[in-house]
Amino acid sequence: MPLVPPYIESLRPYEAGRGIEEVRREFGLTRVIKLASNENPLGPSPMALERMRRSVNTLNLYPNGGLDLRSELARQYDVRVENVIAGSGSEGIMSNIIRAFLCDEDEVLTTESAFIGFQVLAKSRGVAYRTVPYKDWHYDLEALARQVNERTKIIYLANPNNPTGTIFTRMEFDRFYAHVPERVLIILDEAYFDYAKDNPRYPDSMHYRYDNVITLRTFSKVYGLAGVRIGYGFAHEELIANLLKVKLPFEPSTLAQAAGIGALADKEFLHRSLELNTRGIRFLTESLRAKGFEVPPSDANFVMAVFPDEQEARRITDQLLRKGIIVRHLTAFGLPQAIRISTGTDEENQLLVDALAGESTG
Ligand SMILES: Cc1ncc(COP(=O)(O)O)c(C=O)c1O
Repeated sequence: MPLVPPYIESLRPYEAGRGIEEVRREFGLTRVIKLASNENPLGPSPMALERMRRSVNTLNLYPNGGLDLRSELARQYDVRVENVIAGSGSEGIMSNIIRAFLCDEDEVLTTESAFIGFQVLAKSRGVAYRTVPYKDWHYDLEALARQVNERTKIIYLANPNNPTGTIFTRMEFDRFYAHVPERVLIILDEAYFDYAKDNPRYPDSMHYRYDNVITLRTFSKVYGLAGVRIGYGFAHEELIANLLKVKLPFEPSTLAQAAGIGALADKEFLHRSLELNTRGIRFLTESLRAKGFEVPPSDANFVMAVFPDEQEARRITDQLLRKGIIVRHLTAFGLPQAIRISTGTDEENQLLVDALAGESTG
């Protein structure tokens, strides 16, 4: 008898980007910078850290399942606590969505080369996983709507999208939504919401509180808390009630919940992080395009550079690594001809561009 089902046997585990220490040792470097995992280069939110410090004396007690953070989110977003969930990163909530709502015969529909974390989670459920190609590196919502069939249960949309950095617009989403039956759950993954929210064409999903739309957000990116594992989501109370049935009873941890509550108040850090990122996106996009690289417009905290072929993308990735700069080659996503570069500090962004001196295509 096989140990695991065939869809687990054939699954490749999520591979995180390479770590700074590992690269430092392998190449004998003194300084290594990581622009590979869309983290905040300014470190964690100071108010999150302060709140975590204050919570350590209660660590002998079990947490309350995220209730404090859910209540604070409900207050700030003017929704009911029954419409809010908190979990171990937005991926933790994604995992619960997949567990709670998918039956064996259901199908998941999304774009090609979708966020790798979602790909791994959805495929680990063993249901049909269908994709449509990008249209000019954007979600093709028209094609996605056409692909919905009677077995489609979940449509996953990341906006802004990882790894392309692109967004779909309000108009595109409105048209798409009109074609999707209400029985289909739409996950709107807004991990990069804060970076995109000031774009007037960006559809903030809090303005689309439809019964079948689940919004997912995270403290991992702009609040610099990726190591803490804390994310949240908004949805109809029936969907949230079902997610609460399958989530780990004590997720999120006391420290994670405290971090989230502290971060929500840290407007100064948010502002500083967004300002730095806006400069970084502009600088990286312009500098890489000036070299002839194809760089789709990004509303997130990273840019994607597309090369003529896999060999070229791999060569650039390796060359940067030897110079102590870690970027993400996108083979695992299904885009071997592309790399993803997160924004760093101004100095780190400059080092990246300097390390590419002499490189150009076209
Ligand atoms: C689109 C997208 N969704 C979700 C996540 C994961 O976020 P979290 O750290 O909250 O699990 C990421 C992280 O890279 C992401 O890019």
